[in-house]
Amino acid sequence: MAENIGDTMGAYYDQNLLSDITQRINILDVVADTVKLTRKGNRYWGLCPFHAEKTPSFSVTPEKNMFYCFGCHTGGNIFTYVMKRDGLDFPEAVQVLADRAGIQLKKGPLRKEADRFKRVVEVNKAAAAWYQGVLKGDPGAAKARQYLRERKLDEQTLERFQIGYAPNQWNQISDFLFARGFDQEWVKESGLIKRNKSGDSYYDLFRDRVIFPIFNYQGNIVGFGGRTLEDAVPKYLNTPETEVYLKRHHLYGLYQAREAIRKGNQAILVEGYMDCLKLHQHGIDCAVASLGTALTSEQAQLLRRYAENVTVLYDGDEAGQREALKAVQLLVEQGFNVEVLTLPEGLDPDDYLDKHGKEEFLQYIQNNRVSYIEFKVKRSIAAENILDLQGKIRIVNAVKDDINNLQSSILRDNYIKMLSRLLKIEENLILKEIEGNTGPGQPYRKNKIPANRDTIQYGNYSIEEKILASMLNDRGIAEIIAENIGIECFSSRHYNRLAAICFEMGGDSGDSPWEWQQAVEDEELQALLARINTRWDKGFRVNHAELWYFIRDVQRQRYRARWRNLHQRLEHLRTDGGFHTVLRLILDLDTFLHQTREGGIK
Ligand code: CTP
Ligand code: MN
Repeated sequence: MAENIGDTMGAYYDQNLLSDITQRINILDVVADTVKLTRKGNRYWGLCPFHAEKTPSFSVTPEKNMFYCFGCHTGGNIFTYVMKRDGLDFPEAVQVLADRAGIQLKKGPLRKEADRFKRVVEVNKAAAAWYQGVLKGDPGAAKARQYLRERKLDEQTLERFQIGYAPNQWNQISDFLFARGFDQEWVKESGLIKRNKSGDSYYDLFRDRVIFPIFNYQGNIVGFGGRTLEDAVPKYLNTPETEVYLKRHHLYGLYQAREAIRKGNQAILVEGYMDCLKLHQHGIDCAVASLGTALTSEQAQLLRRYAENVTVLYDGDEAGQREALKAVQLLVEQGFNVEVLTLPEGLDPDDYLDKHGKEEFLQYIQNNRVSYIEFKVKRSIAAENILDLQGKIRIVNAVKDDINNLQSSILRDNYIKMLSRLLKIEENLILKEIEGNTGPGQPYRKNKIPANRDTIQYGNYSIEEKILASMLNDRGIAEIIAENIGIECFSSRHYNRLAAICFEMGGDSGDSPWEWQQAVEDEELQALLARINTRWDKGFRVNHAELWYFIRDVQRQRYRARWRNLHQRLEHLRTDGGFHTVLRLILDLDTFLHQTREGGIK
């Protein structure tokens, strides 16, 4: 799946070429084109070219061919640097650097996957520009312009999100794209045209619709949504899912919002294109929308790269609130701090802003956002027809884990009081219900999954990052980890991938930076590696106590998870107690207890 070109970085060219380039060009020289660098120790420092700053937090480590900014957390190698600085894709950056190194590139076919992605994105880009032109200038688009005025979208928003209009005809976009010389294969793949029934010709998918291009996080247009001007059904038509466009991987507005989200460490999640646009228009530019489906875990993970905090702001109607609850669960699982805002009278954010304006909206947010636990309790109460004892128990159970997972006992107490108040049950009974059944010993408190996102403060590394850096520096530590909890013991996919690469490569890795660059194939990983490098290059090693604390903690978490699993199965047995199910459970229980006694939980 070539979702972005960076993913296939390493596979494009033979490794010799890339390593030739890095041997001939020093990253310092490339950076020094535009950034004034000063040396301190083995690093060079300057003002970051990727965000505005007054004191240098941008660093370059030449011997590892890496850069990293402690301010905006951009990082990577010489190739990603040129990609970011000049807005190029990977092959283009390779070309630029090869030219500089005086190396002639052999012209070979691009890798097929990446090629396909690139071709379709080219088609989409041309189409978006065309739709946009039609909206601005075509006499036939007058009613679309009128419609957008009525929806109160201003010029600036239309421009920023490249909104356009598809005329009410059958062969406009196809004629345009073919006239521009785009290959039929890629135009077809873009989903902008469809084959007619007899199979001998094509027609435009979008006709007489407002066009909303959908950008991936890097700003490539990967698909479109088209809204009817009247009340035609369906209200929105969307680019069909293809290998290039999988909507569960994208968030509408993320490209435009990502800087604001990163800066504020906060995103607002809404349901609709319109809601997202309206929030941006009112200067609330950390808004993103899921793409007409329930929020997916891929979308949550994507967002997690930019922020730890998210406010869920779905439509105020029953359906919206039900969806909100699902989104909340998913976001919590991804380690977000989640708050929820419910709008009055079944309004959606777009309606609310039109009706009440920005100031009142912000005021409303301030006064009405609630923690996700409170939201969950209120939704659960709303879902019970009559609030009898059984219902109350169900509600307490629905939030039991959430409350147990809270680190602060003040917060825990707060929610227990809240439950007691809302359910009219004594506090100590609620407490018992919450603390019971969570497994042996103390109530389970999950260590909050440390942010994968970089912490703002210089030098503030999560324990996971420290462990990873230590594994890179010390094979012995990697082996202890492998033996006790397995190499892939981290809470994020990227960390696990790095750890696995580290292990595969064997030996201490500190002195073979180039092989590392090669092994770490994707852009996100490059950035992560650059960040960890700030520990790695100092030969950092966690101390014994920290290492074992980490190992025990992972074991504890797994143990709790297994215990809860067994517990759930026990619950199921009450209703479904077939002989084999019981037998299997007994066997598993036996293994579990046996291992526990010996202290070996893996
Ligand atoms: N959606 C879709 N297909 C539909 C209906 C909805 O893909 N037939 C998606 C769109 O992404 C839409 C989102 O679901 O933005 C939320 O739907 P809705 O609230 O109905 O749309 P709004 O964006 O609020 O549009 P409008 O205000 O113009 O009605
Ligand atoms: Mn709406």
